[in-house]
Amino acid sequence: MELFRDAARGCQSHSPLNATLLRAAADDLAAGGVTTKVMAGSELDRGGTVPGLRFAGSVHRLVLEGKAPGLARHYPTVGGHLERDRLWADAEPVLAEHADKLRAMIRANVVQTNEPARSAALYGGLLVAAERAAKHSGRARPLPVRLLEIGASGGLNLRPHLFGYRLDDGTSFGDNASPVQLDLAWTGRPRANLAIPLIVADRAACDMNPVDVTTEDGRRHLSSFVWPDQVSRYRRLQGAIDLAQDDPVPVHRAEGSEWLRDQLAKSATDMVTVVWHSVVWQYAPPRERARGRAVLAAAAAKATKDAPLALLVFEPRRGNDPADPYRFDLLLRLWPAGISLHLGTGVGHGDPFTWDERHWI
Ligand SMILES: C[S@@+](CC[C@H](N)C(=O)[O-])C[C@H]1O[C@@H](n2cnc3c(N)ncnc32)[C@H](O)[C@@H]1O
Repeated sequence: MELFRDAARGCQSHSPLNATLLRAAADDLAAGGVTTKVMAGSELDRGGTVPGLRFAGSVHRLVLEGKAPGLARHYPTVGGHLERDRLWADAEPVLAEHADKLRAMIRANVVQTNEPARSAALYGGLLVAAERAAKHSGRARPLPVRLLEIGASGGLNLRPHLFGYRLDDGTSFGDNASPVQLDLAWTGRPRANLAIPLIVADRAACDMNPVDVTTEDGRRHLSSFVWPDQVSRYRRLQGAIDLAQDDPVPVHRAEGSEWLRDQLAKSATDMVTVVWHSVVWQYAPPRERARGRAVLAAAAAKATKDAPLALLVFEPRRGNDPADPYRFDLLLRLWPAGISLHLGTGVGHGDPFTWDERHWI
């Protein structure tokens, strides 16, 4: 019950709908109502598994599947509008009718997101890597990229070159006919030529829990965890999934370090191999992180001017502001050039983003 109240507080500023639903469900749990039946078997789950968000996501999924027409009127992702005073009265019968299905979903699911907006930071970082690697090998044009993503979820960020990007000064880059158009709030710019298109020559990805977005189940799974009030985010996700269906790239079920060792054993010349991960490393246990570092160090030692290697990460780091303790830094290392850069800082979903290139130790 406390975990539901915690989740409600976490949703408060960005999802009034989830916050209202979770507070009412917490009261219902305390009173032994229908939510008790829905959450049976998950009562002892750790806070880190966020049972409240698994509950809210599963209810959202029923709405997206058209199985809760009386409740859909509150959900902006299906054209509804929240009426706080009526939400619980409309939710309770849905919980009662679908208690068994909801219980099974909540027990089976992990909260999983895949945020396409992180591709904007990725795009800028890849351009910097491609230009610097080319310069180090004496080439005039940026090198093509071989992108290796760890923790790719549904793999929606494997197509940064197929998205369109628009800046508030009227500049645009990427594909302006793409179903994913990102309107970016950038301060500063990456130190790379945005007018030269990014070339992604090869891509591969892994995840411990991959989502196959070419299936309806995969689409629904990722869609259900977008907070229902965040319509533009929801639409962006649908566009990125549509694109993935036309340009499928498998996400292999594997732990990052092991998969990376196998990938890096295959050499790729005349392109820069970029190992990328965003909002993943916090979930990996220390032993896995150490293995990942060792695999990368071994490959870095073998990198050459014609087959350079880069690590590009967008991960949370603890900052000094107590009101906002985590910031998301975009960091780049490049071998054999020996370059190590902090490229910028953004919010968790990738935008707004501030480009601020400096040396990183
Ligand atoms: C918060 S999601 C981020 C997904 C994606 N990188 C993005 O930015 O949208 C974290 C993902 O990392 C995966 N993951 C966590 N630890 C992993 C590991 N050691 N190896 C591979 N994937 C991992 C999870 O399964 C999950 O899909």
